[in-house]
Amino acid sequence: MFADKDISKFNNIETPFYYYDTELLQKTLHTCADAAAPFKFHIHYALKANFNSVLLEQIKGIGFGADCVSAGEVRRAVEVGFDHKKIVFAGVGKSDKEINDALDLDIFCFNVESIQELEVLNELAAAKGKTAQVAIRINPNVDAHTHHNITTGLDENKFGINSWDLPECAETLKASQNLKFIGIHFHIGSQITNLDVYKNLCVRVNEFAKWFEDKGFTLEVLNVGGGLGIDYYNPDNQIPDFNAYFNIFNEFLEVKPNQEVHFELGRALVGQSASLITRALYIKNGKKKNFVVLDAGMTELMRPALYQAYHKIENLSQSKIVHLKSQIKYDIVGPICESTDCFGKEVEQPESFRGDIFAIRSAGAYGEVMASKYNLRDEIRSVYSNDI
Ligand code: LLP
Repeated sequence: MFADKDISKFNNIETPFYYYDTELLQKTLHTCADAAAPFKFHIHYALKANFNSVLLEQIKGIGFGADCVSAGEVRRAVEVGFDHKKIVFAGVGKSDKEINDALDLDIFCFNVESIQELEVLNELAAAKGKTAQVAIRINPNVDAHTHHNITTGLDENKFGINSWDLPECAETLKASQNLKFIGIHFHIGSQITNLDVYKNLCVRVNEFAKWFEDKGFTLEVLNVGGGLGIDYYNPDNQIPDFNAYFNIFNEFLEVKPNQEVHFELGRALVGQSASLITRALYIKNGKKKNFVVLDAGMTELMRPALYQAYHKIENLSQSKIVHLKSQIKYDIVGPICESTDCFGKEVEQPESFRGDIFAIRSAGAYGEVMASKYNLRDEIRSVYSNDI
């Protein structure tokens, strides 16, 4: 919900831009940290959701670690000042250079996704006379019941080591002098709103942990990944139910004394804290369709074009008097030369005019970071609530 004073400030700022509500982010981070504290759960923030340094400063400040998927993200986390012993490096395709960079930065752990990667990491660590801590990412074949494009834990997905390869994986771990095997890692998908899915994950994690322990390995870390969803349909429901989420793991995960439970949350921490603020360039009223053409498009927020993702769209200039006005159905589109450059079809809005300010809500995760230069668009700017 935007206050009138925000809307009048937006009028004076060149659009489009991402507007970050830093107070809401702070509140979300505290709520998450407070919910995790009684169970001593460790949170690593997944930088891929948003690596904006202003947000990272806040996230580091709360004491969370960093979950990175490229050497660039590892470097960004180090630059911002995350403790290197709280940085993990995941990803199905780490290059030799990236592995070497991360070894030089003495990060906490590599989440390894294939047997060949274990061999390469062992060789590269040996060449540096180092020992790399590793967790094995296992594909648990648990259905996350989310959009198929963001499901990651099924047998057909490219991520992780499948259960039938674990015996060979265990042999490789035993033979690798320059690796220290510390735990197992899972991530079954993103934007998960059916929390029962996590009960199924816990059952599988318990089975895999037992399998490794029966083989004589000690697991110091159980990393259950991220994926907790947010309410895109009602963005004023601002903070996800972290208590319900952590309670499931507390209840269903078998944790040994001295074992740490790690989470890699991205979207749930930053998703609701930003909106894409954009202006109507043109209104096209046609016979079959009415269009609002915005000055932001799929180059600024790609999720609707890529996943048919829903983001709530609000005409901030007209919304205060909405009850007096009849609603009109518009296709809300961007300026890019692609038919998929559409934020919503047949969206009911008050009658809209050139110059109206629109907010595309819940854009804090996988928004700014997935922006592209297609059509040689200008780089999208960021504005912070505490600066205006
Ligand atoms: N850990 C791993 C290994 C991951 O692959 C991901 C996300 C996360 C943690 C964080 O997941 P989260 O808590 O944010 O759900 N671009 C897509 C989402 C891709 C998610 C990729 N992996 C979107 O816009 O919906």
